[in-house]
Amino acid sequence: MSPTPVPRVRPRRLRETPALRRLVSETRLHPAELVLPIFVREGVSAAVPIGSMPGVVQHSLSSLPDAVEQAAAAGVGGVMLFGVPEVRDARGTGATDPDGILNLATRVAAEASAGRLVVQTDLCLDEFTDHGHCGVLDDRGRVDNDATLERYTSMALAQVRAGSELLGLSGMMDGQVAAVRDALDDAGHHDAAILAYSAKYASAYYGPFRDAVESTLDGDRRTYQLDPGNRREGLREAMIDIDEGADVVMVKPAGSYLDVLADVAAASEVPVWAYQVSGEYSMIEAAAAHGWIDRKRAVIESVRGIRRAGADAVLTYWAVELAEWIREGDAA
Ligand code: PBG
Repeated sequence: MSPTPVPRVRPRRLRETPALRRLVSETRLHPAELVLPIFVREGVSAAVPIGSMPGVVQHSLSSLPDAVEQAAAAGVGGVMLFGVPEVRDARGTGATDPDGILNLATRVAAEASAGRLVVQTDLCLDEFTDHGHCGVLDDRGRVDNDATLERYTSMALAQVRAGSELLGLSGMMDGQVAAVRDALDDAGHHDAAILAYSAKYASAYYGPFRDAVESTLDGDRRTYQLDPGNRREGLREAMIDIDEGADVVMVKPAGSYLDVLADVAAASEVPVWAYQVSGEYSMIEAAAAHGWIDRKRAVIESVRGIRRAGADAVLTYWAVELAEWIREGDAA
């Protein structure tokens, strides 16, 4: 009988000690690459918890400055603001009103940030329409792409005037990046940047978010958001948006779309971000609350996986807590 062969190739050597593992780690997290989504609700005097997202709240205009302060102190790279209006209508008038909740919140956040992080805004109509769609409807009840573009360009101008530095175009209308870029440039806002939610899928993982913004959607978004089975189309959408002038492109949700993220990261000449959405957050929180999963390890692993797949930055509801763990040296 011949002796058991001794392996000459031993990848385990580099896993032997914590110091070695740290030295050869391919993916590190940094607070500056995290963006915190923040909900701001009109007509409340204090923060309101969101039932489906334990640990996340709807801020009031008065609790918002502290939230921005906390994020800045933790070294988080930016905040993405969402508005929750008291009144909604068919055209989403609140979105373009300079005193609409999102535009008011942007002013407050910009002042609280004082340049320490990047104040960004969701540019979409769904929080502001009574039917809950991301655009305006035609006389047959379908989302009217080109009529919606006009609303987006007005919304973009209102947001930039309120102090948004990066507009998050999340509506998935064709031509939205070009339309908003042209409108900004025509008005002299050459420096306002565009984050295109390019590959945004029609996902069940947005469920808890609908609760967070109290959106009442009739139907679904499958005529404008991508089919979850389509990988090539995700890359195509990102390429179109880069061509139209997007400064950053995004894949959303993140965890179930890492292949799309890797494709976009390989092809893109602009930064590629990913949005770890509400359902991804709530699933880990729920499992952890049951004691079925190690919360901290699962949070870190989920975000590292997204970075490893190619995201330059990640929008995550854990941004502040994770930034603190990173600073404590706990998130390698
Ligand atoms: C659209 C928008 C949505 C999310 C971010 N921007 C909802 C949707 O498209 O249905 C979802 C974010 C999340 O689930 O965390 N304004």
